[in-house]
Amino acid sequence: MAKITETVLRDGHQSLIATRMTLDEMLPILEVMDSAGYHALEVWGGATFDACLRFLNEDPWERLRTIRKLVKKTKLQMLLRGQNLLGYKHYADDMVDEFVKKSIENGIDIIRIFDALNDTRNLKSSIEACKKYGGHAQGCVSYTISPVHTNEMFIKLGREIEEMGADSFCIKDMAGLLDPYNTYKLVGDLKSALKIPVELHTHATSGLGSMTYMKAVEAGVDIIDTAISPFAEGSSQPSTESMVYAFRGTEYDTGVDLGVLNKIAEHFKPIREKYIASGLLDPKLMGVDINTLVYQVPGGMLSNLVSQLKEANAIDKFDAVLKEVPRVREDLGYPPLVTPSSQIVGSQAMLNVVSGERYKRVPREVKNLVKGMYGQTPVPISEKIQNKILGKGEPISVRPADLLEPELEKTRKEFAQYIEQEEDVLTGAMFPQPALNFFQYRNAQKYKVDSGLLNEDDMVYPV
Ligand code: CO
Repeated sequence: MAKITETVLRDGHQSLIATRMTLDEMLPILEVMDSAGYHALEVWGGATFDACLRFLNEDPWERLRTIRKLVKKTKLQMLLRGQNLLGYKHYADDMVDEFVKKSIENGIDIIRIFDALNDTRNLKSSIEACKKYGGHAQGCVSYTISPVHTNEMFIKLGREIEEMGADSFCIKDMAGLLDPYNTYKLVGDLKSALKIPVELHTHATSGLGSMTYMKAVEAGVDIIDTAISPFAEGSSQPSTESMVYAFRGTEYDTGVDLGVLNKIAEHFKPIREKYIASGLLDPKLMGVDINTLVYQVPGGMLSNLVSQLKEANAIDKFDAVLKEVPRVREDLGYPPLVTPSSQIVGSQAMLNVVSGERYKRVPREVKNLVKGMYGQTPVPISEKIQNKILGKGEPISVRPADLLEPELEKTRKEFAQYIEQEEDVLTGAMFPQPALNFFQYRNAQKYKVDSGLLNEDDMVYPV
């Protein structure tokens, strides 16, 4: 049997409409989704949290609690950037512990934990915290292609993660680089090497996604991630209905009810139409984009590069920058390209080309990467590059978070006047500015209610 994790409430809308789906758009269908027979619903992650605060004026914690209230049986899953939590820098262990505790308290069952560099030291605190508070800790590797990222390396990482106490293991193919036959081999080898269940997460970007899942299932993968059809395919996941149909009546039958899936699809169709009409759902994201295989960079990174180059009035340098990306990646020790390493490598490649001299200008984040502040790169960075970027500075060799002082109490003081629930401290720590804006918005709404300008029942957050 292959199990299904439905991603429409997280990756589906993140990949297609920049994570803008509101809680109101989800609410009417949640109870139906609970009855479909899914293994889990992916509902939360860095981008959902960020977009709730920045664009939707929603409290992400309230969103989670509301989903939990309506989804009683199915497990709720979130994506966590290891020691970066949902943000872009490393947090101290006290913050990691508190965040994981609050996520589980508010309704999360499964936490998928990854690190952009696959440095397992950065997964340790979150895995430990997850187990301590009774959650299911899923250790995850960011899949990429490079001379060192062989199947053997991923199997070694899988073993390490299993030994760290993870309850399951996931290969996160954020760029859709996996192809069917290599996946068959990789999953088969992982299944022989590991005792814990193996899950596969890919994207349909290159058109290979559903073939890749089929071979993964034949090789014994336990769970695959799919999105209901209106938010599937293109840069999102392969569609749930197609995968469920493909395996029905076979030894891999997913147990998911196709009739219920149809109701779910009917609910999301008009929402998809709405975002096509508003222009947020770009037809470019819905087709097959083979560039991700040619350049081995995630689709999102390509579109970021285009917009940055346009801003710099240098779009004519696009080809040169694309050729520079793999060179920078090699210089920087072959990091997988996922948040935040994709932004770091992309910016440096752009600066190298636009400034006309390699590493003439080096952003702080690149210096930090070379310094080891994000952890160990898959391949050590050469002394030549180190000297060029750090000058006389020495890189660190310890786990980056070992250098951090506890920070929970400090953040609590910073946001003291806005805190209405313990969770607000964590929101403030991870997204200081958007959190502040949201807290002020929340206060203003309250004032309107208190002063009789707004009826509490009408207090809806704007879309
Ligand atoms: Co994804």
